[in-house]
Amino acid sequence: MRRLWCVWTLWATGCGQALGKRAPDDVPLRALADKAGLVVGAAVSWEPLQQDPGYAALAARHFHVLTPENALKWAPIEHTEGARDTRRIDDIARFAARNGQSLRGHTLVWDLEIPSWVDTADAHALDAALVSHMRATLSENRGRVGVWDVVNEALADDGQRAPTVLHNALGEPHIAQAFRLARAEDPDAKLFYNDYGVLWPGPKADGLLRLVDSLQAQDVPIDGVGLQSHVHLVPEGRLDHAGIRANLKRLGERGLELHLSEVDVRVADLAGGHTGRLLAQAQAVYGLVDACLDEPACTTVTFWGISDRYSWVDRTIGPDDPLLWDDDLVPKPALFAVQDALRGKPWRGCSDSLLDGSFEAGAAGFSSTGGRASVERGGTSEGRHRLVVTDRTEAWHGPQVDASEWLAEGLDYRISAKVKVPKGAPVNATLRIEDAAGTRYVSVAAAQGTGAWQALSGVVALDLHAPVGSVHWYVEGPPPGQDIELDGVVATVACPSG
Ligand code: XIL
Repeated sequence: MRRLWCVWTLWATGCGQALGKRAPDDVPLRALADKAGLVVGAAVSWEPLQQDPGYAALAARHFHVLTPENALKWAPIEHTEGARDTRRIDDIARFAARNGQSLRGHTLVWDLEIPSWVDTADAHALDAALVSHMRATLSENRGRVGVWDVVNEALADDGQRAPTVLHNALGEPHIAQAFRLARAEDPDAKLFYNDYGVLWPGPKADGLLRLVDSLQAQDVPIDGVGLQSHVHLVPEGRLDHAGIRANLKRLGERGLELHLSEVDVRVADLAGGHTGRLLAQAQAVYGLVDACLDEPACTTVTFWGISDRYSWVDRTIGPDDPLLWDDDLVPKPALFAVQDALRGKPWRGCSDSLLDGSFEAGAAGFSSTGGRASVERGGTSEGRHRLVVTDRTEAWHGPQVDASEWLAEGLDYRISAKVKVPKGAPVNATLRIEDAAGTRYVSVAAAQGTGAWQALSGVVALDLHAPVGSVHWYVEGPPPGQDIELDGVVATVACPSG
C-alpha cells in the first residue's frame, strides 16, 4: 500500500522509476495562492493551536486567513450571562497577527450555539441579548476581523426561510437588522451571509438568490456570500462542476464577493480502496478551487480545518477523512490537487500512474492468474523489461495486479497497457471484483492480437458494494499454450479532457 503512495508523496525513493516523478512540495499554499490571485484560509481550533505544534505550524505557514472554528460563536464566548470569555479568540487573534494573517469572523447570528441562559421564548429578551452580543463581539474584534459571517444558515433546504428559533421569535427583519448593526459597529469589515447546500444549483441556491435580492433591494449592507461547501461524495452522484460554476456566476452578477467558506469533502461512503477515495476527494477539491479561480467574484477558499486528526466531521457525523492533511499531518492527494489548481495546472491525478507497470524494477506487484509470470529483459514495448506469462492452461490465465487500494467509486479510471499476443488471438483487459455483491467481471478493453506490441486501453467507472474484498486488473483471452507479454501498464484517473 505504501508503494501506491509513491506517486503522491515521495521523490524517487525506491518506488520504481516510473513513479515518484514529483518532488515533495512544501511551498506554502498562500504563496501559490498569491500568484493565482486567491485568498486561502482554514478554520482553526483553539485547543490544537495551543497543544499541537505540527498543526500550529501548518496553520501558520499555509493560510492567509484563519476562521476561528468555534471561538467567536455566542455560547463559547458568553457561556454565563455577562461574563464574556474572550481568551480563546484573543489567543487565536495573537497567533494570526504573529503570522501576518487576518481573521474571518464566524458567526454572529446563528440558530445554533445560543447560550442556554438566553430565553429564546421571549422575543424581546432574545432580541436584546442578541444585539448586545453582536455589539460586544464586533467591537472586541474591530480591526482584526476582516470579514464577518453576519448571518449563518437562515435558509431551509427548500430555499424558504428556515423555521429557526431566531426567525420564529424575531421575524424576517432580523437579518437586515443584523447587517445594518454590523456595518454600524464595524464599518471596515466586509459583511457576508453564509450557508450550506447552496454551492450547486437547486431550490436552496435559488432561495439564497431571492434572499440576496431582497436584502439588496432594501439597501442592506451585504458584501458577500459564503458558500460553505461541505461536500459529501456518494456513489450515486458526482459533483456537478458545471452547475457550481453557473451558480457562482449568477451570484457574482449580483455584485457580491463569494467565498467557498467551509470546504471539506467526505469520502467514507464511497466503496473501494482508501487511496481511491482520497483520489475522488482530490478531484473534487481541484474542481472547487478551479471553479473559484475561474469566477472573478470568488476571492477566497477556506477549508473547514487542516488535518483529519481534528475534523468536526469525525465528531459530528462519523469517521471520515475530509481535509488536506491526514491524521499524521501528512499531505494528502487533496493538498496536491489544491497546489495543482493554484498553479493553473491540470490535476495530476489524470496523468500520474497509480502503479508501476514498467517492470524496470521487477514485477512490482504483478503476478498471474495462472501459468507462470516472469520479468524478462529485452524484446520490450517501451522499456528494457517486460512481464511474460507462460505455461498458460486456461484462456483466463494471464498477468494480473491488485487494484483494490486505488480503485473506488466516484471516479472513472483509465487503465492502459501494451500487450503482445499471437496474431488473431483474442486479448482482453478485465477487472475481477469480489465484493458484497459477489464475484463480477468488468471488461476494460478488448482487442485482437496483431502478433506485435499493441495498446489495450479502456476507461472504467465502478459500481462497488462495500465491503470490497478485492479488485484485480488482469489480461486474458488467448488460447491455452500461447504466451501473453505485458509492458507499460499505466493507470490514472480518467479526466474529461483525456
Ligand atoms: C462546527 C464546528 O466545526 C464544530 O467544532 C462545532 O462543534 C459545531 O460547529 N457549519 C458551520 C460551522 O457554519 O460553524 C460548523 O462548525 C460546521 C457547519
